[in-house]
Amino acid sequence: MTSRYGIVLFGATGFTGRITAHYLSEHVAGEGISWAIAGRDRDKLKALSDQLTGQKPGIIVADTSDRTSLEGMTSQAVVVMNAVGPFNMYGKGVIEACLHTATHYTDITGEPSFVAETYLACHEKAKEKNLCIVNCCGFDSIPADYAAWLTAKKLPPELPKMLKAYIRTNATFSAGTFTTAVQALYLESTGKTVKVKIKRHPDAPRQKLKIHFSKDIQAWAIPMPVVDPHIVRRSISRLPEEYGEAVSYSQYFVRSSLGKVLKTVLPIGAAMFLVKFRRFRNWMFSRLQSGTGPSEERRANSRFEVICVGTAGSSTARTVISGGDPGYNETSKIFSQAAFTLLDKIKNHTVTYGVLTPVEAFGTDLVHRLRREGLSIE
Ligand SMILES: NC(=O)c1ccc[n+]([C@@H]2O[C@H](COP(=O)([O-])OP(=O)(O)OC[C@H]3O[C@@H](n4cnc5c(N)ncnc54)[C@H](OP(=O)(O)O)[C@@H]3O)[C@@H](O)[C@H]2O)c1
Repeated sequence: MTSRYGIVLFGATGFTGRITAHYLSEHVAGEGISWAIAGRDRDKLKALSDQLTGQKPGIIVADTSDRTSLEGMTSQAVVVMNAVGPFNMYGKGVIEACLHTATHYTDITGEPSFVAETYLACHEKAKEKNLCIVNCCGFDSIPADYAAWLTAKKLPPELPKMLKAYIRTNATFSAGTFTTAVQALYLESTGKTVKVKIKRHPDAPRQKLKIHFSKDIQAWAIPMPVVDPHIVRRSISRLPEEYGEAVSYSQYFVRSSLGKVLKTVLPIGAAMFLVKFRRFRNWMFSRLQSGTGPSEERRANSRFEVICVGTAGSSTARTVISGGDPGYNETSKIFSQAAFTLLDKIKNHTVTYGVLTPVEAFGTDLVHRLRREGLSIE
């Protein structure tokens, strides 16, 4: 293990990968971690490495279509950070290579089907091999997973709890994120998505998912088909001693007016219908150029807030996690700090094995790290 890089960042030349590479380059020295960037194009990797102003990385060439190259990459890492998406298309082989070469794994997927597939196919194998695999280590789903956990812990442990999370942001997305969303909606429309069934506790408060005006936040709340509820519900089901036994969770996107609700819901509804048609998908993909995304200036003006409101009997608790641009600036920070936390745990022999949620894998250590890095967690 000591001859391996602490971290190998796969997909380093993508839009999110590049921002993460810059963050890592400035922070790995302080952590005492060796690192490498990986991707399918050596020239692009070399050009990226030349731009990095902090600690220079090693360079590894690997392509998801070549299993030997994937194992060549994963065998050189203690932890792989995977930023190659859509994960439904490219992710499975990377995790299989990690299982084969005894490498811990994190990624920034936001795709519910890929997350379910990873859990069902790899949880037992990862436990047998003493490996930790954690999906959703970006804005999807670390703020929501932690906001729900911190809220539940403030409520009376023995009472049923209702948790509701609200996401507010003015941010926009990269081409890679749009491509991934279109792919995920298409998969959903085919009915071929993989799901993990989590049994509802009979005493867990029922929550109806609908667009409504929320008194909690005095704004409109829209349920969205995102990955966070899948992760949060898994954390709840696997850690009853932390959350309580009977807990329900729902999540909403926040809009300030009914007009803005329509502006959000109508295009999504149209896209959900149109993705069924190959022509529409091809037209969308032709407009989305991988490697592109919101400008530095646009990102500097983006903010997010995740507000989780929990009730249990007459008690109420509220957690607010907020920061800057969620999809890229904060994701690169959260993703990197999650990998640093995992490396700490490996070094200290406190790592838990299996396919874990962020809360299960990183616990309170990540809260301290994220606060230190400027995220507000109140
Ligand atoms: N969880 C979150 O909050 C969050 C935040 C941001 C992004 N994401 C997700 O992260 C993923 C990447 O987003 P992005 O904006 O960075 O997309 P992007 O700019 O399109 O980057 C995609 C990356 O994948 C690489 N790639 C594609 N096919 C490959 C293959 N066969 N073998 C090796 N590498 C391959 C590309 O390599 P080349 O450079 O050589 O083309 C590029 O590095 C998306 O799925 C997005 O949804 C999630």
